[in-house]
This record gives sequence, structure tokens and C-alpha cells, in this order.
Amino acid sequence: MGHVDEKTMKEIRRRRTFAIISHPDAGKTTLTEKLLLYGGAIRLAGSVKSRKTERYAVSDWMEIEKQRGISVTSSAMQFEYDGYCINILDTPGHQDFSEDTYRTLMAADSAVMIIDHAKGVEEQTKKLFQVCRKRGIPIFTFINKLDREGLDPFELMEEIETVLGIQSYPMNWPVRLGGSFLGIYDRKMMHMELFSGGDHGQSLVSSVKRSVEDQVFRDLLGDDAHNKLIEDISLLDMAGDAFEMNKVLKGEMTPIFFGSAMTNFGVENFLQEFLKMSTPPMPRASDVGEINAESDFFSGFIFKIQANMNPTHRDRIAFLRICSGKFTKGMNVNHVQAGKQVKLAQPQQFLAQDREIVEEAYAGDIIGVFDPGIFRIGDTLCEKSPQFRFEGIPVFAPEHFARVYIKNSLKRKQFIKGIDQLSEEGAIQVFHEKDSMAQKLIIGVVGILQLEVLEYRLKNEYGAEITIEHLPFKYIRWIETEGFNPEKARLTLDTKILWDSHDNLVLVFQNEWSIRTVEERNKDLVLSDIFSLK
Ligand code: G4P
Repeated sequence: MGHVDEKTMKEIRRRRTFAIISHPDAGKTTLTEKLLLYGGAIRLAGSVKSRKTERYAVSDWMEIEKQRGISVTSSAMQFEYDGYCINILDTPGHQDFSEDTYRTLMAADSAVMIIDHAKGVEEQTKKLFQVCRKRGIPIFTFINKLDREGLDPFELMEEIETVLGIQSYPMNWPVRLGGSFLGIYDRKMMHMELFSGGDHGQSLVSSVKRSVEDQVFRDLLGDDAHNKLIEDISLLDMAGDAFEMNKVLKGEMTPIFFGSAMTNFGVENFLQEFLKMSTPPMPRASDVGEINAESDFFSGFIFKIQANMNPTHRDRIAFLRICSGKFTKGMNVNHVQAGKQVKLAQPQQFLAQDREIVEEAYAGDIIGVFDPGIFRIGDTLCEKSPQFRFEGIPVFAPEHFARVYIKNSLKRKQFIKGIDQLSEEGAIQVFHEKDSMAQKLIIGVVGILQLEVLEYRLKNEYGAEITIEHLPFKYIRWIETEGFNPEKARLTLDTKILWDSHDNLVLVFQNEWSIRTVEERNKDLVLSDIFSLK
């Protein structure tokens, strides 16, 4: 394979594409905003925050978003810092947590995990972490809200290691006194950074950096706190794991940074170190082997489809992660799965807060392309011939299940069409029971709100009103054992056998005990909570 020209190579090498994973309220919006602030993409903090609550007024997203005041969809933002071109993928949380959140992680090259200093590792963080872990991408940890009381940093490290099963290496150590967060000790530079200013997070903070042994710090902290700091630092050096970059790159060790996104303390240090350690776009697996980001042809895959950005046109935007080469506006590419050439019209990129038409984009970038209804999640687009396909995007385990019934059977055709299209878009997963007729479809979703989205969209876009009957299942497992006979399986009473839309066998459970019991009773049964499309 040929290599890109020098200019394109430079552009690709300065790309950093990552997702922020966290539990709601840990500070994802605040940190994103502060990264943009340091990148000069916004002048005063507060704009992303207001975007979080007001963006429905400026964009014509689905009506339901306006009603609920939350985002049903996700996208990406781009900004520059110190010669790097950074793409932050938005991973929606709160009630808008959905399969899209997981799929977005497929487009990231690394992840930043935010942990609330007072709360430790929380539920949603665990789920998102597991997906990143399976992909083997680097995971960087930002422990946030150090300006408030919280858990002991050693305890937090321990929790990350035991709950998530990843080694941790603190890159810095917090310096606190009487409930105030003063600064950080930088373990690599072996200096202390003391923060001041920042106008409560509205603008950049200033800092002084000096040796931790400096008398200034002893005077400031007092003997006891200063001695304790020196002790903690030597304990980390002696008892902690050694830093291993190759483990970081494989996602086996997470570098930890302490800070406060709200006051900006530690944010720039984190950004600088993170950029140095994270990689430009790496090779991606395909059916013809790995595709190098610096190959001399454009390629990418679709990881998200967003419907009805403009309700009057019913059009869709397909979000594309560029994996190799350079993209230029209006380019003709092979749509591999459809076996057709397509022209990528109206490509859009999200620069800080605004959507813009993009003329050029490079491996690592995310663009939105107009979709007249031809793209599916996981589709490969490439300039090259012979063509190849990137490894598919897996199907993630739904956590909510419901039977849906049509209210007016005359609308059956529209109902089926709607269900098919929403399933193709990846908004819902469709299951059926062996002996059930089509009207007894079981819908599975990752986030509960998707059921409301389904109801709303079926009514508004397809004219089909439905009744939703929630089912008590919470867990799903795909059966990986070849030739497994479900009739002979020894299940628990509350376990159900279903078929997915690809006719794969799945089991749905009401609790984790049932999963364990079924596994114990059926030793030859191999279950999986992610289904990889072949
Ligand atoms: P999210 O996107 O992860 O859901 O979290 P978000 O950034 O919206 O932050 C959740 C809450 O935590 C916000 O408070 C935010 O101000 C606060 N927060 C974020 N970072 C820090 C930090 O470093 N220190 C402290 N003390 N608080 C932090 P809120 O009351 O919900 O909103 P607001 O009234 O502050 O806007």
C-alpha cells in the first residue's frame, strides 16, 4: 500500500480522537468546556454548559428532545491545542444513555475516564470502561472535584484497580490543605505546581512550579502537611507499580491525574500530558488485514446514524470515522456493503459549538455526511479498489425489554416499516419468541428513553400508535455455543429464550443470579454480552 503525501501525514499525526467516559454528574461537560477553553475554542467558560441546556433552541433536533430537554443523540467536537488537532466524541449520559453511547466508543482511539473524587467508580463508568477495555484502547483517568472533600487518593487508586481490574499509575498527586485544593505534585518533573487565579474557572489559571522541598511550600503547608506529602510521594515511588507505556497503550494501565474541572486546577497539566501519551490514529482491523491510517487512500466507517435533523426533509446524517488518508468534499467513494459508488455530499464537522461544512478532513476526524437512507451502522466507505470492510461494530446488550403492540391493526404495514428502519438505524434491537407472530415483537434497548423515542417516532413519522408492555428482563446473553439445543437447556423459571433479528439465539434474564445458575447448570454453554457481527 502506498503512503500519503507529507502534508497529509503531518495532519494525521497531529490528530487525537478520544471519548470521555463517566457517570452522570462527574464533570464531563465541565471538563469538555475547560479543554475547549484551553484550546482557545471558547473565550469564557460557560458556553458548553449552556449548550447542554439550550442547544435545542439553536438546532432543529427531534421534537422529543425539546420536550424532554435532553439530548437523544451524540456527535463530536474539534479544537486545536499546541499544534494538536483534537476530536472529542460526545458520549451521552443521563437518561439519553443508549447504544449510541457504546458505539461512539468504537470511533475513539483512546478514552478519558472521569471519576468524581467523592464518589469513586460509579455504575455507568463501569459499563463504558468495559467496552473500552475490550477494545484494548488507552484509558486515561481524571479524578475530578478535588476542590471538595472526597475519598483518600490511595483508596481511589485501590478502587480503580479492584473494581475495574486495571493497574493505575498516578502521574501527579493532589496537594490539599484544610479542605482547599492548592496544587499538584508532578511525579515526572518532580516539582510542585501551585495554582492561583482562574476567576473560579471562568478563565485560565496561573501557577508556580518549584521543587516540592522548597521552603515556600513548607511554610505554606506547615510541617505536618508537608511531611505527609513527602511521605505519600515516597510511598508511591516505593510501593506503587512502575510506569509502563506499553501497558498504557494496550489499556492495561491507566495514568491518573488529579484536578478540578470547575476551578481549572490541574486541567492544563492533564491536557498536555494526555496529548503526549495518547497516539495518533492507529491501524484498524479489516477483512484484508490492518489498514494503516497513513495509507494513501481515504477510508472510514459509519458508527452512528442520526435521523431527522431537519424534520421537514426527513433526512439522516451518518457519522463517519475517517480511518485512513484524506477526505475532500464531494468525493466519490465505494460504499462497500451496498456495492455502489456514492458522492459524499454536504459533509459536516463540529468545530467547538458550530456545525460547519468541511472541505477537507483526515484520518482521526469525524464527519457527518448526508444519508438518503442508504447507510447502515458499521458500513465501510473507501476510495480503494479492491475493496475491504472494516471490522463490524458489535451489538451491545440491551438492558430494557418491552413487547410492543400496534393500536390500530390497519396501520400494520407502517408499523413494520418503522420498526425495520429504526432497527437498521440502530435505535432499537428487535427480538421474537419462537412461536410468536410478528405482532408480539420484543424490543430491546440500552437506555429506557429509546422506548419513548420509538413510540414518538412511530407515531410521528409512520403514523402508527403503539402500546408498550414493559418486561422484567434486565440482562441478555447471546449463545455462542455451536449447535446448542435450547430445548434441552436447563434454565431457571424466569429465563426466556428469544431470537434476534439475525436469527441468533439469545437468553434474557431478570437478575445476575439466574445467569450464574444457568451457566452452572449448562457447563457447555458459552454466553456473551456483546454480539460481534460477522
Ligand atoms: P456531567 O456532564 O458529567 O453530567 O457533569 P457536569 O460537568 O454537568 O457537572 C455536574 C455538576 O458538578 C455541576 O454542578 C458542575 O458544576 C459540578 N462540577 C464539575 N466539575 C467540578 C469540580 O471540579 N468541582 C466541583 N466542586 N464541582 C464540579 P451543578 O450544580 O449540577 O451545575 P452548576 O450549577 O454548577 O452549573
